[in-house]
Amino acid sequence: MEAIKQATVIGSGVMGAGIAAHFANAGIPVLLLDIVPAGEANRNALAEGAIARMLKTEPAPFMSARAAKLVTAGNIEDDLTKVAGSDWIVEAIVERLDLKQSLYAKLDAVRKPGTAISSNTSTIPLALLTEGRSESFQRDFLITHFFNPPRYMRLLEIVTGPKTDPALTRVVADFADLKLGKSVVHCKDSPGFIANRLGVYWLQVGVVEAIDAGLTIEEADAVIGKPLGVPKTGVFGLIDLVGLDLMPHINASLSKALPAGDAFHAANRDLPLIKNMIAGGYTGRKGKGGFYRLNRAGGGKLKESIDLVTGEYRPERKAELPEIAAAGKNLRALLSGPTKIGRYAWRVVAQTLAYAAGLVPEAAEEIAAIDEAMRLGYNWKSGPFELIDALGTDWFVAHLEQAKLPVPPLLRAALGKTFYRYADGVRQYLGLDGDYHELRRPAGVLLLEDVKRVSVPLLKNGSAAVWDIGDGVLCFEFTSKSNSLDEAIITLLGKTIPLVKAKYKALVIYNEGTNFSVGANLGLALFAANIAAWSEIDKLIAGGQQAYKALKYAPFPVVSAPAGMALGGGCEILLHSDAIQAHAESYIGLVECGVGLLPGWGGCWEMLARWSMSGALPHGPMPAASKVFETVSTATVSKSAAQAKELLFLRASDGITMNRYRLLADAKARALQLVEGYVPPKPVELRLPGAAGRLAFSSAAESFHRRGLATVHDLVVSDELAGVLSGGPADIVDPVNEDQIRELEREAFMRLMKSGGTLARIEHLLVTGKPLRN
Ligand code: NAI
Repeated sequence: MEAIKQATVIGSGVMGAGIAAHFANAGIPVLLLDIVPAGEANRNALAEGAIARMLKTEPAPFMSARAAKLVTAGNIEDDLTKVAGSDWIVEAIVERLDLKQSLYAKLDAVRKPGTAISSNTSTIPLALLTEGRSESFQRDFLITHFFNPPRYMRLLEIVTGPKTDPALTRVVADFADLKLGKSVVHCKDSPGFIANRLGVYWLQVGVVEAIDAGLTIEEADAVIGKPLGVPKTGVFGLIDLVGLDLMPHINASLSKALPAGDAFHAANRDLPLIKNMIAGGYTGRKGKGGFYRLNRAGGGKLKESIDLVTGEYRPERKAELPEIAAAGKNLRALLSGPTKIGRYAWRVVAQTLAYAAGLVPEAAEEIAAIDEAMRLGYNWKSGPFELIDALGTDWFVAHLEQAKLPVPPLLRAALGKTFYRYADGVRQYLGLDGDYHELRRPAGVLLLEDVKRVSVPLLKNGSAAVWDIGDGVLCFEFTSKSNSLDEAIITLLGKTIPLVKAKYKALVIYNEGTNFSVGANLGLALFAANIAAWSEIDKLIAGGQQAYKALKYAPFPVVSAPAGMALGGGCEILLHSDAIQAHAESYIGLVECGVGLLPGWGGCWEMLARWSMSGALPHGPMPAASKVFETVSTATVSKSAAQAKELLFLRASDGITMNRYRLLADAKARALQLVEGYVPPKPVELRLPGAAGRLAFSSAAESFHRRGLATVHDLVVSDELAGVLSGGPADIVDPVNEDQIRELEREAFMRLMKSGGTLARIEHLLVTGKPLRN
């Protein structure tokens, strides 16, 4: 087998259905099979039901409606022979060895040898799964452990057996990397693999230490969350999310499988509190509530949490922890604090990090696999060894000894050293042998993070920086808070264009923040409005328009590479690029109307041009303007890059990269591709519908208002938008150019900026984080 072109997923539960959807997201036809439910006339009811449910699930398992059509439902009685057409069969049925083994026996007879077959098991060793199977089955078998939800969790743990074919493993791993966008971590065939082995230990320690220390769950989560770069759900909040009822099962299976000396056994205490909660149906967010709950009794909405001593709910008590503020970013200070908070943080962190160090080489060949597994499987900002580096190995070991906690050999080997370092521009990690080894990124992976460690920016100010990413390509990086756009970014963009023109070939706009950009900095805009600094706002709009226009007509290719949210001005910069290379998880939209504004940096024109020239709409000026009106007035945001194509935020020719790590390299390659014979786009003119169009849009908005779907201020905003998109108040006969529309955009933007309804919206959003529907 050279490539994966078709797949089968067996088991259409939480994981199987999600995995099938994600194969479909990668453009692969998938057969999804489950058992025939007793007494059910429709033999495919389970798989069909799973697909139907996924179409309504949020966050959506499918990236587009087109992907959903690639999944076909079936059952294991009638359709099992069809698996012979698959290059990869994923088994994701219930976690029972007997059932998995009996399914494999049947599959062994019908599947095509040389194609991949894998299990999504979270706890069963590979050696047991393949017991009694044919040689060819064992050669083609591996464990592929996806995380929930499969579309969004980037980690894929792969376990192979002594007989697994390395060439086949490579095909599977490459497909998972390039097409499914996963970061593949190779694990040993040891209990819980890497992420859950360490993650479950960490959670268990987090719970028992909190009980022993007499902490509230709010205190525990406050200190084990954000200060450590762990999601704010901390320990108890995460257990609520995973489901309390799963914990005893996972703990029992780990406890059965781990050797007697493993530290997990000491932490795995019987906890009557949790037992009682599960028995009462308090299994977490999916049940009646967990450690935290929203009490809706009497029609109210009271936030409550469990008292660890009494086991009863009481009103949530926000933790006030001066220890966290006092320590700031100093992790050592936090962990050596004299209060019970400091002692708790130390006990949890010390045991977890030491346990991690004990997992090499039993669970992982090297430390980088463990760090990656925790970053992507548990969303930690830094993996355990990066945390030890932050603390200092010597400091950590000395404190472990002081606390009479065991020091694993890997930590001893690391005394006087860091776990990671950069030497000659290459990242290296420390091995169990005490030597450094190269940690090269795979071909096709380029990270700005690496570039930044070994070079200095060519240009830089408080909100952006420009980096040389090699081969004549520069990278423009936003560095402001949430990558919001401000005057400094516009200014630096203005300086970057002549620099590229003078000495380089192309420009990529990219960053490694969670979001590409959340749009213009509204706080600054509101501040300017409050002191009536209208000319400042006007200057910013005009300046942004000029900078984006200059980018568009620059004599070199510009490729934007968004990931996460690209909203408002962040979307408009994409629209002015020659090409976009988007991460599959790109959420793109012109959301200005939501805060009572409209796209003011050329977004209106660019969208009009895209729809007018798409060839997808009937002839005449009205259909394109109407499409844009619909998308922009409702502040529509794409829920994936695939959907952004349907909305024309991306053109058909724009690229989508599934693996986040490959985005910059793909964008750079795209830019270089455009260099030879590059000519900037030719300005175009468009026919717009004029006054009649504006009237049509405004009456559509009126009818929304009458049906209660648009507010009073929505009408004001959409009328201004209608004015721009129709080309102005006059009856238009002649085609218009982009400068005319920019002018209309700017005037309308300023009128809205001065309106009370808009200012109220902006203020409300900044204060509450929620939109105001005035
Ligand atoms: P689930 O209970 O949601 O779904 C299991 C599905 O398998 C059901 O639809 C059931 O009808 C079907 N099934 C049972 N016996 C079958 C058979 N003989 N042939 C075909 N289908 C059969 O379970 P879930 O959570 O999706 O787990 C599936 C596998 O993935 C398990 O091995 C589990 O350990 C593993 N896993 C689960 C994760 C999770 O977060 N739920 C995460 C990672 C792995």
